[in-house]
Amino acid sequence: MKKDLTDYKTLHDEIKRLSKERNAIILAHNYQPPEIQDVADLCGDSLELSIRAASTDADIIVFCGVHFMAETASILSPNKKVLLPVENAGCPMADMITADLLKKKRMEYPELCIVTYVNTTADVKAESDICCTSANAVSVANSVQSSVPILMVPDKNLATYVKNCTHRDIHIWNGYCPIHDNLTKDQVCEIKEKHPDAVFLAHPECSFEVLDLADEIKSTSGMIEYVKKSDKREFIIGTEIGIIYPLSKANPDKVFIPASSDLVCKDMKKIRLDDILRSLETLSPEVKVCEEIRLRAKRAVDNMLSIT
Ligand code: 13P
Ligand code: SF4
Repeated sequence: MKKDLTDYKTLHDEIKRLSKERNAIILAHNYQPPEIQDVADLCGDSLELSIRAASTDADIIVFCGVHFMAETASILSPNKKVLLPVENAGCPMADMITADLLKKKRMEYPELCIVTYVNTTADVKAESDICCTSANAVSVANSVQSSVPILMVPDKNLATYVKNCTHRDIHIWNGYCPIHDNLTKDQVCEIKEKHPDAVFLAHPECSFEVLDLADEIKSTSGMIEYVKKSDKREFIIGTEIGIIYPLSKANPDKVFIPASSDLVCKDMKKIRLDDILRSLETLSPEVKVCEEIRLRAKRAVDNMLSIT
């Protein structure tokens, strides 16, 4: 008898069965919807997922996230097939810089050390000196020789935050995450007034004015770690609302309040359970970084890993 794959549990079981048969590993970013995080073998931030997947003996990586994350998995696991279940799940911030624009900048200012956020394409990483994540950006900037000026791409908010923390000579690219950048100081003040005892956690992709109001500035995995150790009960969350699911699951006695109901990344919500199943059945869409770009991009990622 044909299985009814409209039922959540059946779909979930079918994905697990096929994933095992294909020797696949399913990864989900912290912003993915609950049903996707529930079916995943590993949840976390993008770099952490790619690093952990590379050390497994899986033949296939199913990346539930956005395109640059699947590319990072391909950079670190060239012998595994990397699948992104919905091909056009992209990142508007990653699209705010191209390899050609960066090459042009390098020719104009050859003295700059190019520090590139992992939220970029492999082509852009390949033109960079060193990568960074939101969790290690300050340490990466501090690792650059003090006499060398830095160009930090593409996120102007992350770069401003790092510049304020390190007092380094940092040139800033004008990119931003439309979701985090949209959160306003007034929205934060209003929610803080309603919840005066709550700790406000903000992601460094938020604007400078918002970060100024934060009790703690953390990456997604940094927020998860922080909340686990905190003895506080209420938290205002200044990042994409998908993270509230893993936070609530791990801390059932704590309360999480989104800083704004607009903190939703449409691209992070594109993948559905039936897309994962189709992807495992057809082994597509595949994301593969060509070897020439991969080796140059990997050098920038490895430079980062060597200092953190
Ligand atoms: P992290 O999970 O690295 O904090 O990144 C946030 C993000 O915007 C991913 O798209
Ligand atoms: Fe890109 Fe922002 Fe969405 Fe992350 S939340 S994938 S940075 S648009």
